[in-house]
Amino acid sequence: MKLLKAFIRRRKTEDVFNTLKKEGFHSMTFVECEGTGRYSDHEKEHISEKYPYADAYKVIKIEILVSDAHVDPVIQLIRKNARTGYSGDGLIIVSPVDEAYKIRSDEKGILSI
Ligand SMILES: Nc1ncnc2c1ncn2[C@@H]1O[C@H](COP(=O)(O)OP(=O)(O)O)[C@@H](O)[C@H]1O
Ligand SMILES: [Mg+2]
Repeated sequence: MKLLKAFIRRRKTEDVFNTLKKEGFHSMTFVECEGTGRYSDHEKEHISEKYPYADAYKVIKIEILVSDAHVDPVIQLIRKNARTGYSGDGLIIVSPVDEAYKIRSDEKGILSI
């Protein structure tokens, strides 16, 4: 079981989500945040008023818990739908997860599908 954190352009969120959902990955968390990079591309992005010293701009972090077998397919789906080829396309981080518990029921394990 792994936790994927994908930092993507805000305007790519809908495409990424629709594709993941179509492929059966329904459960994920969206986090609105601001980020910066060495060669940030601010074209069509809104420069932050909150962190102007860092040239920070809005990015969406998608957090999605997946089984080990789904890590590669989900990464490919995110890449395919979030990529422009320009600076600022973002990053995907994969971290191991020991346990996950659903709150509503006694279910334990992968909860992303
Ligand atoms: N090493 C990192 N740690 C945390 N967030 C990162 C990292 N690299 C990229 N990001 C996130 O991805 C966004 C786009 O980064 P990136 O594609 O590397 O842009 P750039 O091409 O401008 O360096 C950043 O604004 C940030 O939110
Ligand atoms: Mg970078």
